[in-house]
Amino acid sequence: MSKWILTSDKPDLGRMRKHESIWTQGNGYMGVRASFEEAYTKAVRNTLINGVFDCPKGEVPELAVIPDATNCDITLDKEVFNMICGKVDKYEASLNMENGEFTRLVEWTCPKGKKYALAFSRIVSDARKHIMAQKVSVTPLSDDADVELLTGLDGKVTNSGVQHFNNPEKRAYPDGVKGMYLTTLQSKVDVAIHFGLKISHECNEGISIDRRGLYSRLSRKVQKGETFTVEKIVSYAHSRDFEYADGEYNDEKLRSDGRAYLNEAIDMGYDKLLEESSLSWKNFWESSLVDVKSGNDFVDKAVVFSQYHLHIMASHDDNRLGIGAKALSGEGYMGHSFWDTEIYILPYYLCTQPRVARRLLEYRYMLLPVAKNKANRFGFKGAMYPWESAWITDGEACLEYGDIDLLTGKKRKFMMAETEIHITAGVSFAVWQYYCMTGDEEFMAEYGNEILVRTAIFWADRAEKKNGRYEICGVIGADEYKEDVDNNAYTNYMAHKNLVLADKILRENPNHICNKLSREYDMEDMAKKIAEVAENLYLPMPEEDGIINQFDGVKSLKPKDITYYKNLDTVFDIFKDYGLAEILEMAVFKQADLVMLFYLMSDKFDKETIRKNFEYYEERTLHDSSLSMCIHALVAVGLGMNEMADKFFYDCLCVDLGENTNNSDTGIHSASIGGIWLATVMGYGGLRINDSGISISPILPQGWESYSFPIYYRGSKIKVFVDKAGCRAERVSGDEITITLNGNKTTI
Ligand code: BGC
Repeated sequence: MSKWILTSDKPDLGRMRKHESIWTQGNGYMGVRASFEEAYTKAVRNTLINGVFDCPKGEVPELAVIPDATNCDITLDKEVFNMICGKVDKYEASLNMENGEFTRLVEWTCPKGKKYALAFSRIVSDARKHIMAQKVSVTPLSDDADVELLTGLDGKVTNSGVQHFNNPEKRAYPDGVKGMYLTTLQSKVDVAIHFGLKISHECNEGISIDRRGLYSRLSRKVQKGETFTVEKIVSYAHSRDFEYADGEYNDEKLRSDGRAYLNEAIDMGYDKLLEESSLSWKNFWESSLVDVKSGNDFVDKAVVFSQYHLHIMASHDDNRLGIGAKALSGEGYMGHSFWDTEIYILPYYLCTQPRVARRLLEYRYMLLPVAKNKANRFGFKGAMYPWESAWITDGEACLEYGDIDLLTGKKRKFMMAETEIHITAGVSFAVWQYYCMTGDEEFMAEYGNEILVRTAIFWADRAEKKNGRYEICGVIGADEYKEDVDNNAYTNYMAHKNLVLADKILRENPNHICNKLSREYDMEDMAKKIAEVAENLYLPMPEEDGIINQFDGVKSLKPKDITYYKNLDTVFDIFKDYGLAEILEMAVFKQADLVMLFYLMSDKFDKETIRKNFEYYEERTLHDSSLSMCIHALVAVGLGMNEMADKFFYDCLCVDLGENTNNSDTGIHSASIGGIWLATVMGYGGLRINDSGISISPILPQGWESYSFPIYYRGSKIKVFVDKAGCRAERVSGDEITITLNGNKTTI
């Protein structure tokens, strides 16, 4: 079976939402869930456009669900096609991850006994970011039939009931194009959607309008064996489009641009658009593919799956856009960006498309005003990044309070915005990694140094002088099952790195950055403070028993045997038996925390310490976050714990693609998808990035035949091949470069 194709041979309507998420199509500009054309009550037909956030009063901003264009109601001799009635005689659906096309063939016997073949295909163009195209064909198999299609723009969409748009203006133009124009209620983003049809045969065509809907109604008598095909081409444009970032925008321009995008695409038609988009996908795969031949179809496919989603989740040009924790595949996490981006996803772009990595970091630069405000709000200097971010001016997007407790009637305060501060160091870490990989001085001068110094100023102020050293108290670490802890190892080590990087800039190259910041701070004092805190920040070291405290007092937590929960396939099961307050007191962890450091800063710890601590903390970790398994996989590889590594790697592949769970219903898990790439390239491939360059020390997992992966490093591109004979690296383009391969400096 091809590793490029996700297939399904039965409708599986019970797991429709999971399918819609994992088969999502997109191009970084927009994401369209793989909902069926005909209506089902369980369907969640989300089209999401990156950056189109709206914030209902008293809530936080979220990506607004855009009017749906995937719909097509099909009536066949007065019977409505729907797979919950009649009989499905044949069903073949697939998402071709090689070219991004979603197709579905259904042979259906209607309740009255007539047979039909229906074919659906859809793309979100990889070559034209504003365009989606769809094709629907109907072939009566047993008799001539009156075929009626109703297809258009359905504005009756909400985010789980929350309305984000005003009543749309609807237009039908003489050339057959129809348009819908809307504005988000609070953020006032104008959205223009246009569609046009290409129809295989003459037919009756009319317009149908309902409240917030605008459709074309087509009807025709179709003979037995004849195929009636309708292509629907749709364009999306909005006032926050990158094209208008520095230029002129007005409503008229938006509409005419939207129509122009559409008209060009209509002239091409579905097949040519597919051809063009496929070529763009081909170029992508040729440059970025991690090619795994593991001998296990599922594994090979899951690695392709991760790259498919990595390709469609990030805008390629717009530096005002982040990557949501569910990317553009569903409403989960409201489209917000977390530390997931820098720590789990960005390394993939760094190695395959440094340009995209740079623009993701520019997004963080754009967020500096928000980060400065946030620091100020909490009484600190410097830049404190939002735990969750949306549009660049939206501010901290993390909810302050959870829902009211049904029993107590009280609101639970969420502490993440105020105390899950490690994200600030995560952003800096990514800036440093970017610089190590690219040597991009221009980026550092323009953006990077400022991020590093402003965040270091925050840490220098946030750290408290206590016990003759600096400590960081009252935080949530990477592990979210513990709150208000002191000296979380992950946070302290990451903050330390941040401080050291800034200290280096301020010592070696202070002029530009000090001039930039001197109106806000006495930079001489500030540089001293940063150096002092960097020098004296408490970094937890192994205790007598070899265990590093994940935070102060971790060993006094109540012991708890969690074998039962660890053996379950699902997550959060412990909450069926215990409340959060109890879990906070137990020696039970949600996800990799200290263990993160053994990946990000492996050179700081000896192997024995890593092994001891990995075993100690893993035994107590539930992996209730999808961010946990990939990190455990790659640290286990480093320890030579191959069986364990393979198990975690497999678990990570199953987060979205596994058979049993519905936890992808509200969208895929972007971090875990980045984590598949991490576990492959940084885990098995043993890639590490540091000041002195990159090192690669690959292993071939048990049973695998080979794998290869590309890396862009300092303007050159190399490809690493690993098979039973060993490993070799080839330079594909650029100048000679030196890397460390299996411990030896090698010039390629
Ligand atoms: C995890 C966080 C993560 C967030 C978004 C939470 O469940 O604990 O680490 O950033 O999900 O993916």
